[in-house]
Amino acid sequence: MSRVPDENRFSDGPRLPRRALLRSGALAVTGVAGAGCLATSTDGDTDATDADDFPEPTYGDPDREYRLTATVGEIDVGGGQTVETWLYNGRYPGPEIRAVEGDRVRVTVENGLPESTSVHWHGMALDGENAMDGVPGVTQPPIEPDEEFVYEFDVGPIGTHWYHSHSGLQLDRGLLGPLVVEEAEPHVAFDREHTVVIDDHLAGEPHVTQSGGPGHMGGGFADGPASDGTLLDGRLPADPVVLDAEPGERVRLRFINAAGSTTYRVSVAERSMQVTHTDGPAVEPVVVDAVDIGMGERYDCIVEITAEGPFAVRAQPLDGSTPAGRALLGHPSPDGEPVDGGSSDGTAGSRALRLSDLRSVTPQPGLDGSPDRTVDLTLSAGTDADGDPAWTINGQSFPDADPLPIQEGEHVRVRITNRSPVRHPMHLHGHHFTVGDAVKDTVTVPGHMGRRTLDLVADNPGRWVFHCHHLYHMETGMIRVLTYD
Ligand code: C2O
Ligand code: CU
Repeated sequence: MSRVPDENRFSDGPRLPRRALLRSGALAVTGVAGAGCLATSTDGDTDATDADDFPEPTYGDPDREYRLTATVGEIDVGGGQTVETWLYNGRYPGPEIRAVEGDRVRVTVENGLPESTSVHWHGMALDGENAMDGVPGVTQPPIEPDEEFVYEFDVGPIGTHWYHSHSGLQLDRGLLGPLVVEEAEPHVAFDREHTVVIDDHLAGEPHVTQSGGPGHMGGGFADGPASDGTLLDGRLPADPVVLDAEPGERVRLRFINAAGSTTYRVSVAERSMQVTHTDGPAVEPVVVDAVDIGMGERYDCIVEITAEGPFAVRAQPLDGSTPAGRALLGHPSPDGEPVDGGSSDGTAGSRALRLSDLRSVTPQPGLDGSPDRTVDLTLSAGTDADGDPAWTINGQSFPDADPLPIQEGEHVRVRITNRSPVRHPMHLHGHHFTVGDAVKDTVTVPGHMGRRTLDLVADNPGRWVFHCHHLYHMETGMIRVLTYD
């Protein structure tokens, strides 16, 4: 079952002595401290750029090592189109980082870009390892050009996760890849699996725009550029990736919505899908025709191949004008056409997954009874300190925003109300939360007074950001820092 790719490992090389390794990092590490010291008190200090206040990294003895080098490069997205963008190891999506439950992983990130960078491990709990969270200005200084930073962490929870730059708009260039933690004993049987990275594609540079309306002060909402297409595993639909599958097999598809600004409805032509995991952990299997996936969310689905394919795997934007994407499940035969139509495209007669369908196999402990603290958050459009369109949480636009203090051991309830007309996929670092009966790390809050209630146990001291995963909403203020008192 284990298919850890070898191309980026340097496990056969000599192991660096630890001191040398630490010095090669971007941080001036003066010693190796116990994990307990990460519970740094912030003393009400809201200056997130105070370099002395970053948690201290700790290093141990990793089971797997990877190297990611971020550079400017060019990719072929199919259909005769190439794009100059920023890449990890010259590839898009970046190399898959794969580990097994219980492993410790070290990833050395080298910055060959013209500006500073960072890498966040989206979905990793990083228990006691806040220093590895990869949020520049909050958990570490930015990695400057020509510098390296050594990330190291125990993987978990199990399942489908991903990594991406957490600096500015770099996520919308190509600085992202899958991170899979294999479970020792899957709760469902499958014959093979594929990771499917879904992304909205920009032919040009990412930049903040204004769109929508009626916006604040007549200026519209802060948004991103219209996307030029949808990539599945880096390919436009004209020249799709072919995912191996044979008749008779159960194929697990690990869907990751890595888009900057698009929510997708994902379906497989003529096939229903059994949803088995979300945002990593396992859920009781539920059969649907389509799954809506917000930015940052992951869903694993098993598709049964009971006929000759290939079957089109489709990602249809829920709104906006972005063209749909597709991949092929099964190999085209010389005479056969792909199965592209069918009732399972999420429209007439089909059934899309609802949040209330999800029931986690392992509920989070410590959430019975009433919460110790309730935090009410209102999401809305507003303006920043300069009067430009911005996105706000309780009227404040980051970085001009207060931290959200919590205390270790508390059961925290976060009640979110969305006063804007657009969806906000809200993501919390360093914790999974319970929403309905599901354990997730990212949940989409519908527009027009949509509400979601999240419950979590404050069990991981540190500074953890909570933000909208619409990249242009985050970039224009829809982010807060959760801090442990
Ligand atoms: Cu996917 Cu703050 O991150
Ligand atoms: Cu948003």
